Amino acid sequence: MQIIKTSSYRKLSKKANEIVVDAVFKNPNLVLGLATGSTPLGLYQLLIKSFKGGKIDFSKVKTFNLDEYYGLKKNDSQSYSYFMDKNLFSKINIKKENIHILNGVAKNKKEECAKYEREIKKAGGIDLQILGIGADGHIAFNEPGSLLKSRTRLIKLKEQTRKDNARFFELKKEVPKFAFTMGIATILEAKKIILLAGKNKKEIISQVLKTKINPQIPASFLKLHPRCIFIVEE
Ligand code: F6R
Repeated sequence: MQIIKTSSYRKLSKKANEIVVDAVFKNPNLVLGLATGSTPLGLYQLLIKSFKGGKIDFSKVKTFNLDEYYGLKKNDSQSYSYFMDKNLFSKINIKKENIHILNGVAKNKKEECAKYEREIKKAGGIDLQILGIGADGHIAFNEPGSLLKSRTRLIKLKEQTRKDNARFFELKKEVPKFAFTMGIATILEAKKIILLAGKNKKEIISQVLKTKINPQIPASFLKLHPRCIFIVEE
């Protein structure tokens, strides 16, 4: 695992932007895994800037988002689908048919997850996966206790995660209790991974770096990946 330390959130986002721009330049058909939450917002703003400046072309890029709240429709203003559209997709030239996000209101939950895994395989696998990290060490919504072999599935969110994410909702009780998430095995199959962590994640990052692989700290599984970079704000 490689660690890049940056002295500000702006520099962290800039480094991540450089990696994505370079990856799409080298492979215009890149399959890009995306995260939501606060941390990648700086990266998304820079990607929009890079696109407007002619430095990146998303016309052949395919994306797969890590997760989606269960029970929220695409057009719900709290859904990750809505978040991605507002903060990135509506401002770049990505084709609608190349965007993949789990359907939070899928009737057949198992089939929705199995279909997502099939779609990732059909696209040739994820080339570059962007990750954030939860205060409890979750990656995507793989909460503590998630298994190395876990695949895309419905998961019950921990109270800590619901509390942390309550800032995006009017009331905490509105935060969904379940979410669809890619699994640890799904994430580790990405060819390259970059995890972004601002200074508010200092505590958990130092725990991840110190610990051996431990399912109670799901991000520690990333130590098994040969091409994983942590970009952290010091
Ligand atoms: C979101 C996701 C989550 C977040 C994590 C950190 O798609 O996968 O694992 O990355 O909860 O969220 P922020 O960046 O808001 O602190």
